Amino acid sequence: MITKLNKKDLLSIADLTKEEIELILNISDMIRIKHKNNELFVPLLGKCLAMIFRKPSTRTRVSFEIAMFQLGGASIYLSPNEIQLGRGETIADTARVLSRYVNGILIRTFSHQEVIEFAKNATVPVINGLTDFSHPCQVLSDLLTIKDKKKVLKGLTIAYVGDGNNVCNSWLFAAPKMEMNLRVASPKEYAPSKEVVEKSKSFAQVSKTQVLITESPEEAVKDADVIYTDVWTSMGQEEEAQKRKEIFKKYQVNSDLVYLAKKDVIVMHCLPAHRGEEITDDVMDGPHSVVFDQAENRLHAQKGILALLLNR
Ligand code: CP
Ligand code: NVA
Repeated sequence: MITKLNKKDLLSIADLTKEEIELILNISDMIRIKHKNNELFVPLLGKCLAMIFRKPSTRTRVSFEIAMFQLGGASIYLSPNEIQLGRGETIADTARVLSRYVNGILIRTFSHQEVIEFAKNATVPVINGLTDFSHPCQVLSDLLTIKDKKKVLKGLTIAYVGDGNNVCNSWLFAAPKMEMNLRVASPKEYAPSKEVVEKSKSFAQVSKTQVLITESPEEAVKDADVIYTDVWTSMGQEEEAQKRKEIFKKYQVNSDLVYLAKKDVIVMHCLPAHRGEEITDDVMDGPHSVVFDQAENRLHAQKGILALLLNR
């Protein structure tokens, strides 16, 4: 059994092995049990996480901040407009300087390359808090939620309905690694990229699972164990919102679509939701929805990630 993560940073689920993902889930669960029992557990006493957000955030920011606090450490929120990064100090220099002060750096930004550059120059762990390319912390905590609800991950079928975006990419890496089948339903022009799908299929070949890319939401959700959706317009694409609303219309997760899945299907959304667009109120607030447990698990999974990365 492994007890450590191999890499210094958490940039993409594609970099993690199945055993490492299981380790994160197990440690997160262990810390969650202590938390629910009001047991003090402070493995990060005296440690500090710097958090740089170039995009807004509710869940990621709050869950990481609270996670650091509850694990005995502290966090510092850095808005790019208020640090010299916003005035042209390079990513490399910022990463080197911050590494002299803090024990880890979380970044949410547009370009994935920027996070890679940060990690290359930082001597402390760098965590991807969402880029245009991927959202690993979200999907790791979603795996925890699915395990809570379904007991096992292996053999489950997850249907991702909507935009082939950052969250979808992280699912394309995570599902086959965890021996789950994945079906992605998107309009053709918003399907996940060929490179990501190829990588996903190469993982699926190893785990002997299925990765299906389709334009049909009905085909994707048929007899699925999990239906997952996300906004049609991600942060940074706001000017395309109107056009996307039209194109994605038939990709709405509503009760007719949920009806086609297994009777005990769970419906997930990373949030924030645009109610009435990608998901209807009755589904989001209905008996299959687990979205708020899912949001809570961000806190527990963040703790697992931090405990492992900042205590190397
Ligand atoms: N799901 C998620 O990452 O939410 P925030 O944008 O609020 O952090
Ligand atoms: N795909 C969404 C996820 C938000 C958590 C976005 O990037 O805006």
